[in-house]
Amino acid sequence: MATRSFFDSLSLDIGIDLGTCNTLIYVRGKGIVVNEPSVVAVERGTNKVVAVGSEAKRMLWKTPGDIIAKRPLRDGVIADPDMTEKMIKYFIQKVISRRFFVKPRMVIGVPSCITKVEENAVVDSAYKAGARFVKVIAESLAAAIGADIPISEPAGHMICDIGGGTSEISVISLKGMVVTNAIRVGGDEFDEAIIKHIRNVHNLIIGEQTAERLKIEIGNASPDKVIEKVEIKGTDAITGLPRRLEIDSVEVREALQEPVTQIVEEIKKTLGQTPPELAADIVERGIVMAGGGSLLKGLPKLVAKETGVPVILAERPLECVAIGAGKYFETMRSQDGSQSVYDSLNI
Ligand SMILES: Nc1ncnc2c1ncn2[C@@H]1O[C@H](COP(=O)(O)OP(=O)(O)OP(=O)(O)O)[C@@H](O)[C@H]1O
Ligand SMILES: [Mg+2]
Repeated sequence: MATRSFFDSLSLDIGIDLGTCNTLIYVRGKGIVVNEPSVVAVERGTNKVVAVGSEAKRMLWKTPGDIIAKRPLRDGVIADPDMTEKMIKYFIQKVISRRFFVKPRMVIGVPSCITKVEENAVVDSAYKAGARFVKVIAESLAAAIGADIPISEPAGHMICDIGGGTSEISVISLKGMVVTNAIRVGGDEFDEAIIKHIRNVHNLIIGEQTAERLKIEIGNASPDKVIEKVEIKGTDAITGLPRRLEIDSVEVREALQEPVTQIVEEIKKTLGQTPPELAADIVERGIVMAGGGSLLKGLPKLVAKETGVPVILAERPLECVAIGAGKYFETMRSQDGSQSVYDSLNI
């Protein structure tokens, strides 16, 4: 029977989903304790943090001259390492307090397409924020664990994590990633496609928040019997004056076609690269979809239609990566109950 190390039994295991849109922190035994937008607001010149998370998001695009609100991660990459570090530290310190005797172990889910330099920046920030040990894992592996996929089985499982900046598709078997593909297309790209379409077709300039609202309210990837309509406001591209526009779900679907197709094609490509035995398992078990982008109406249905493989939406699509990162160590512990390499190292 496994004996957990002294440190292990006293310490916290923290799972972090460092997403381009949202940062989530899961603490073993407590659940999700942080769920906030990945946004930081700092004072211009001094770089002093003024607000982080939801409060900072409210300032995005509306900041007075002396405050800058930014999303330090964009398209799945760290666009601003300094701000990313400030944000990680802020969120982690919200969770860790001096009452913990032993520093926590942290597992951080990051897009598999980030560079080694970016990865080091994340690891560094986590150590500075008080970690005892930091492990970075691919978002899709974390999502699979968080979605309760039995990844230890000698069978193929496919997970598609459609985030804000990236979509990562992996085939997992025996706790390892057999095939992985990631593209820098996700929910943000959906918003941008809507912005572009409305500007080109209606000469109306709308902001990212309006585009996101439109996507969530009436956005869709497969035809539906009911046609929904929403009124939006923006700036006329010619007159420069504010204007209202009614837009329906059919038009939003057309606007979203390009990024949606890119994601579907990436899923098909990954299936094509999967060894036949594992592909057979996937056909039987279905493709699991996670991430906020998978909540786009009709997207799972479209993926099922285009691939001919059943699709299951994870139970908590927005939380899977953080939950899976938090459960990483216990999942990776060998099945026979013996100690993992991490336990024996007392990390
Ligand atoms: N109901 C919904 N319908 C459509 N899109 C949604 C819905 N809810 C959230 N989203 C979108 O999901 C995206 C955020 O998803 P998520 O939190 O999984 O991304 P992330 O993990 O921060 O990004 P990444 O994994 O790329 O780093 C945003 O683009 C958001 O607009
Ligand atoms: Mg994500």
